Amino acid sequence: MKIARILRIMPYLRLRRSARWLLLLTVALASSRMVYAQPASTTPTPAPGTFRNPLNASNGPDPWLTYNNGSYYLATTTGSSELVMRKSPTLAGLKVAAAVRIYQETDPSRCCNMWAPEFHLLDGPDGQHWYYYYTAGTSDTLDNQRSYVLESAGTDPMGPYTYKGRLFDPAADVWAIDGSVLQLNNQLYFLFSSWTGPNQTLYIAPMSNPWTISGPRVELSHSEYAWEKSGLNVNEGPEALQHNGKTFIIYSASYCATPDYKLGMLTYTGGDPLRPGAWQKSPAPVFERSDQNGVYGPGHNGFFKSPDGTEDWIVYHANASPTDGCTDLRTTRAQKFTWNADGTPNFGVPVSTSTVINAPSGDMGIDPIPDFTQMRVTRFKVFSNTQYIRHKDVYVRLDSSIDPRADSQFQVVPGLADPSAISIVSANLPGHYLRHQGNLLILDTSDGSAAFNSDATWQRRPGVADASATSYESYNLPDSFIGLKFGVLALVTTTNLNTDKQRASATFTEETETLGQH
Ligand code: AHR
Repeated sequence: MKIARILRIMPYLRLRRSARWLLLLTVALASSRMVYAQPASTTPTPAPGTFRNPLNASNGPDPWLTYNNGSYYLATTTGSSELVMRKSPTLAGLKVAAAVRIYQETDPSRCCNMWAPEFHLLDGPDGQHWYYYYTAGTSDTLDNQRSYVLESAGTDPMGPYTYKGRLFDPAADVWAIDGSVLQLNNQLYFLFSSWTGPNQTLYIAPMSNPWTISGPRVELSHSEYAWEKSGLNVNEGPEALQHNGKTFIIYSASYCATPDYKLGMLTYTGGDPLRPGAWQKSPAPVFERSDQNGVYGPGHNGFFKSPDGTEDWIVYHANASPTDGCTDLRTTRAQKFTWNADGTPNFGVPVSTSTVINAPSGDMGIDPIPDFTQMRVTRFKVFSNTQYIRHKDVYVRLDSSIDPRADSQFQVVPGLADPSAISIVSANLPGHYLRHQGNLLILDTSDGSAAFNSDATWQRRPGVADASATSYESYNLPDSFIGLKFGVLALVTTTNLNTDKQRASATFTEETETLGQH
């Protein structure tokens, strides 16, 4: 079991907050945030009210997307110790929306590996709140993944949120991921995935309120058909879908690292949803890879309505290559779906990322980046040597051989504190800016504060080693530049720049290119 579980999620292992902070004391960091200033210049901008998938260049797994009170809200798996939310008045605008941190955890029992965010507007004892469900665990292993929930103060999906609790069946307090909720017959149920023998199995349990399981879990489904057993026997990511009096649970089947990760469907047959036979499995998948459209491993979906409520949409993640696996390379995609004459959903085929599609009804946004693969990015090369600034998770350092190349590709955007200055964001680690904290350089997401904006703004100056190159002075710490201190990328003052080597390490040339591997 352990081996199967580790195999299942090995490709997804990420550095944890505790490891980061430990290294922060010894190694400087740099950060970036996914805010794209200019649309790609080499591909035409689609007409208003249209867009192309994906909605992000990376870090798009397990998306949850909803339209509420004039804006779309998108959350995706971060794999770290923070949860972020993007907000935009248009669907395509999510591509450039700031990833705002809505929660950060320090409790070591649930600090890390945050997966599968979902936020549902539900009735609490004192009125409606957003209940933000997610998976998290400890920093040392993925074996401690459990299901948790936050509660919003009011009805703003951006929060603020407070920790509400862990959801578990006391009779089976074990590994539990991909928590979601189903409202049926005026009763709330918790849906989640857990291992039983060789099968990662779907379970359902009654809830007494949005944060408490009030009865034993009951098996909903495990892998039976061959199409549910590609790689590993996995059923996960259960998502309720209701329409015209029918209730379905759409779930993800097979191993997330394979291109054959796909969606299956359970149909509610009536009566007590906890009784055996209450759910009938469709014998064939309802949404799967399209080699013709270059879409692999589509799954872990969510559902949302168009702004005018007339259309049903599915949001899901997928890979652009059959070998991208269960990693941050999975990107968020969305497309409209329809209903068959028998009342079942018709999801169709996952659309190609080269297809321009109409935005949801009532959405006249303009796609800011029609094609991420044409996105222009910048690399920062150290003067007179072959090293570049690169990040590795939240770490920033100088390196010469960099794989993936996107770790050294950044977007240079107008400065948060002063548009005439600049801010520097990662091309493949969304939601983080290059900012300083004291003398350290830190990868961090915007909390919207003026202090953050200033810490994450840089003034271009003539290079301290050569005026034809560039040095980067902190906006709010004059005479402090990005450079090397004791071999670590950090803020250095001109008094530290006494040798040619020190001056060269605080001097860079900017090289622009298109995103990705070269
Ligand atoms: O993406 C991280 C986890 O891996 C998700 O919670 C699960 O659905 C997937 O298999």
